[in-house]
Amino acid sequence: MVHTGRHFLQIPGPTNVPDRVLRAMDRPVLDHRGNEFAVLAKEVLQGLRTIFQTRGPVVIFPASGTGAWEAAIVNTLNPGDRVLMFETGHFSSLWKQVAEKHGLKVAYVPGNWRRGAAASDVETQLTNDRQHSFKAVMVVHNETSTGVTSRIGEIRKAMDRTKHPALLMVDTISSLGSMDYRHEEWGVDVTVGGSQKGLMLPPGLSFNAISERAIAANQRCSMPRYYWDWMEMLKLNQNGFFPYTPATNLLYGLKEAIAMLHEEGLSNVFARHARHGQATRAAAKAWGLEIVCEEPAEYSNSATAIFMPEGHDADHLREVILENFDMSLGAGLSKLAKKVFRIGHLGHFNDLMLMGTLSGVEMGLRLAGVPHRDGGVKAAMDLLVAAAAKPQTVLTK
Ligand SMILES: Cc1ncc(COP(=O)(O)O)c(C=O)c1O
Repeated sequence: MVHTGRHFLQIPGPTNVPDRVLRAMDRPVLDHRGNEFAVLAKEVLQGLRTIFQTRGPVVIFPASGTGAWEAAIVNTLNPGDRVLMFETGHFSSLWKQVAEKHGLKVAYVPGNWRRGAAASDVETQLTNDRQHSFKAVMVVHNETSTGVTSRIGEIRKAMDRTKHPALLMVDTISSLGSMDYRHEEWGVDVTVGGSQKGLMLPPGLSFNAISERAIAANQRCSMPRYYWDWMEMLKLNQNGFFPYTPATNLLYGLKEAIAMLHEEGLSNVFARHARHGQATRAAAKAWGLEIVCEEPAEYSNSATAIFMPEGHDADHLREVILENFDMSLGAGLSKLAKKVFRIGHLGHFNDLMLMGTLSGVEMGLRLAGVPHRDGGVKAAMDLLVAAAAKPQTVLTK
């Protein structure tokens, strides 16, 4: 089938890239050892701090998010170290695999993939660890596979109550630039981020925001590292340079994306994502479909994972929607394969794009013969109209 108009890319990342960002990158490649590049690099390195909400350094790797996961580990920990992780979903299990490949001993607190990491579990585990054998607590802020957010501020407070010295490392790959995240205020030691979701860029850049404690851990860390080495990166970054060839044109895009987030204002960006998350959940509820997240305080504002009714295949629904309405939705991952579909509502997005997305889902449910009630689109529309009339009635967190 020939499709016309714009494709709807409603997977939970990579997300739609704004034309402004595409145009910003559509420039001749520049000399990455020249002064013009240094000016650009210094500007984006500084600008990124505002997005992570930190005054400390953020390093940029020409890599996907997985690279920044690995960088967090090889810059702070030693083979054989114990770390505490939480089974929140597919991405926590992948980060665990990266940790184990590097010889870390992972205590993996089991979970049902419907809730975030519980601050009470963090507190119990760290209180029982009198020898301080845990060297890090590693949490995925927004589990993209389930649409569940862990409450990092509460986890930090739980860690503080135990006075345990473990580092706190957080993956914000699908929350940065969409949900409130405060690297410095929440005392996070390493924050892992990526370019392709809330930052509205193509895939290809990933980040580590680094605390002073993380820098101190780096001095004691014996993991072999070269490409991921923070020290070499930080040294050269001071003058706007990199130890190897940076992704120059993506940095032009990053500069534009940071400017766009600031023009809107971070608090408005978070409120917009909260509104779209709320409207998507209202649609699912009206359809009579269950969402994966079972704790309202942990609803994700960037992605919603929705269960199919028993006996119906989510991949078939996604195929019907792609074929007929040219919209890509996220697949269920690993143990949720075929059982759920995921709607990404993050990044370069607005009310009408959400209405188009939800219309595509509702039309697909009908066409694929999936049992549901009508009215999801209307429920979302009612919420968006109410929000436009009275913005303060809608969630802002
Ligand atoms: C929460 C989370 N962590 C890590 C990753 C892995 O990032 P990448 O695929 O860019 O390597 C993803 C990718 O979607 C993710 O959503």
